[in-house]
Amino acid sequence: MSHGMPLTLNEHLATIVPYEPGKPTEELERELGLKETIKLASNENPQGPSPHALEAMRQAASRCHRYPDGGAYYLKRRLARDLDVPVEWLIIGNGSTEIVEMLTKAFLPPDGVSLVSEGAFIMYRIATLAASAPVCSVPMTPDRRHDLAAMAAAVAPATRLVFIANPNNPTGTRCDRSEFDAYLDQVPRTVLTVVDEAYREYIDDRDYPDACEALRNGGAVMVLRTFSKIHALAGARIGYGIAHPDIIRALEKVRSPFNTNSIGQAGALASLDDREHQIQSSTENRRQLNRLEAELTRRGLQFLPSSTNFVLMAPGFPGREAFQALLHEGVIVRPMDGYGFQDHVRVSIGCGPEMDRFLLALDKVRTERGLHAA
Ligand SMILES: Cc1ncc(COP(=O)(O)O)c(C=O)c1O
Repeated sequence: MSHGMPLTLNEHLATIVPYEPGKPTEELERELGLKETIKLASNENPQGPSPHALEAMRQAASRCHRYPDGGAYYLKRRLARDLDVPVEWLIIGNGSTEIVEMLTKAFLPPDGVSLVSEGAFIMYRIATLAASAPVCSVPMTPDRRHDLAAMAAAVAPATRLVFIANPNNPTGTRCDRSEFDAYLDQVPRTVLTVVDEAYREYIDDRDYPDACEALRNGGAVMVLRTFSKIHALAGARIGYGIAHPDIIRALEKVRSPFNTNSIGQAGALASLDDREHQIQSSTENRRQLNRLEAELTRRGLQFLPSSTNFVLMAPGFPGREAFQALLHEGVIVRPMDGYGFQDHVRVSIGCGPEMDRFLLALDKVRTERGLHAA
């Protein structure tokens, strides 16, 4: 489409396929004439936020004629205490994805490259290209995990950033401690390894590598975490990064002054106090995830075992078609052909009744295609 103005675009933008967000549920209901659709498409926490967070956000809303605290003083101080790191090791972002953008702006141009694995969370690629830098991608292992040995071997003199989502979206897979340690031993300290732990709270396994510990021990690591998942504050947009203060100082130069809002900051701070909410969210997620995996196994359907609050599964016919068919049943999942998974959809774990609806809809659309249901 012509915009009517002879403007020259940054040529790197030509290769970006924009992130594909789901349509608002209300809009889909209107378009398709459906009622009570369920959204299992964005890996949100179906429990909703902690009541403490909601109350803190209500109070913060009444003061929102004031600018937020740009430095997120109280939230950083609280996180520093919990993580046992100095406050200077922290940066707060408008979601952790904003920190990915800060990283690519601060560390890539003019001659840096970022290294990712092929099926990694798409924002690393988008942010790198938007910062006018190239991406080098490394194939995953056959079981769709990051191949950390191959990634370490692919580090080249121009590599500045390596992004590792652990666990990864959309595969739901993760790396273990020995792979991560071997990787860190091999990679030169001129490279910053960014470990995105958006789903870490869903994992209860001693073999899960603690990237923050690697950082405390002097590793060239930055850890990203978020309030969007277990804390159920995706709409309030708060994420954080933990890194050596030299890295944080560089990021502060590209951070916009009021990047996080006062309501989100207040909600995040209060949510940290509600351990019960986090435990309950992860227990319920585990229960529904186990059940979904068992039901898929019973139907002979393939899926990747998940360490998260979603499952990448093959419905038995093309993923994009399955997405459309499920949509007409009022169930919104995510097609994954954009990531090269043509046969898959990604299904977020909802609450019990939502998973019941998903399974019913899945059986219906499979039966309509002559495929075996439950
Ligand atoms: C691996 C990964 N990192 C980060 C995010 C987004 O986090 P935020 O909402 O903090 O930007 C997601 C969200 O789906 C994710 O899957």
